[in-house]
Amino acid sequence: MGHKIFQIDTSIKDTQDSYTRQTGQYFIRKFQERFGQLEVSYLDLAKNPPSYITAEWYNAAMIPPRERSVKQNQILLHPNMQALRDCDLWLFDLAGYMYDAPASFKSWLEHIVQVGLTIDVNEQPILKNKRVVVISSWNESEDEIMPALGFEASIRKSMKHIGVSDVSFFNIFNADGIAVTKDDAERAINKYICDLQL
Ligand SMILES: Cc1cc2nc3c(=O)[nH]c(=O)nc-3n(C[C@H](O)[C@H](O)[C@H](O)COP(=O)(O)O)c2cc1C
Repeated sequence: MGHKIFQIDTSIKDTQDSYTRQTGQYFIRKFQERFGQLEVSYLDLAKNPPSYITAEWYNAAMIPPRERSVKQNQILLHPNMQALRDCDLWLFDLAGYMYDAPASFKSWLEHIVQVGLTIDVNEQPILKNKRVVVISSWNESEDEIMPALGFEASIRKSMKHIGVSDVSFFNIFNADGIAVTKDDAERAINKYICDLQL
């Protein structure tokens, strides 16, 4: 059986100008070279930003699926989060905006906590054996961005909340002087994929 990857792009730039879009595509290409048949479930948040969650959304998300009304089921259809269940590797290509992930991604992230999808009625995580790969790109140096204090920490905690602890980051820093180039990130991705045991 082939593998399934859920890929999210966030950059407002086209692929030719976007480090995260290009590096995300590189990841997919390398993964395919190593593991063969691959299905990609793709979401472009720059083109299809999700709505913000609301009280109605929360009331729908926090009750068991069998208790939801037709309207509540409809509310939970957008964005469609089924790829979280279907795919075992999630690839988040995150442009660095205002020392954080793009707001579209934060908004999407708030949709992930749903009873029956990612947590049970006791708010315990129900996902198992999922992996997350985050690719990010910045115009400043690592020292200035400090991802461990920025979205890296919140993404790790958000993922842990739904049962995902295998989270890997590949950050590109395009600052003068100290730089982690796209080539450096690609080399690290290559190693990650070579070492991956599926
Ligand atoms: C709205 C906006 C905010 C940005 N904020 C930051 C920032 O806080 N720190 C930084 O280093 N670069 C910042 N940048 C630059 C981007 O991080 C950089 O261009 C990165 O390569 C974006 O990813 P992309 O190449 O995939 O589009 C910002 C760019 C935009 C458009």
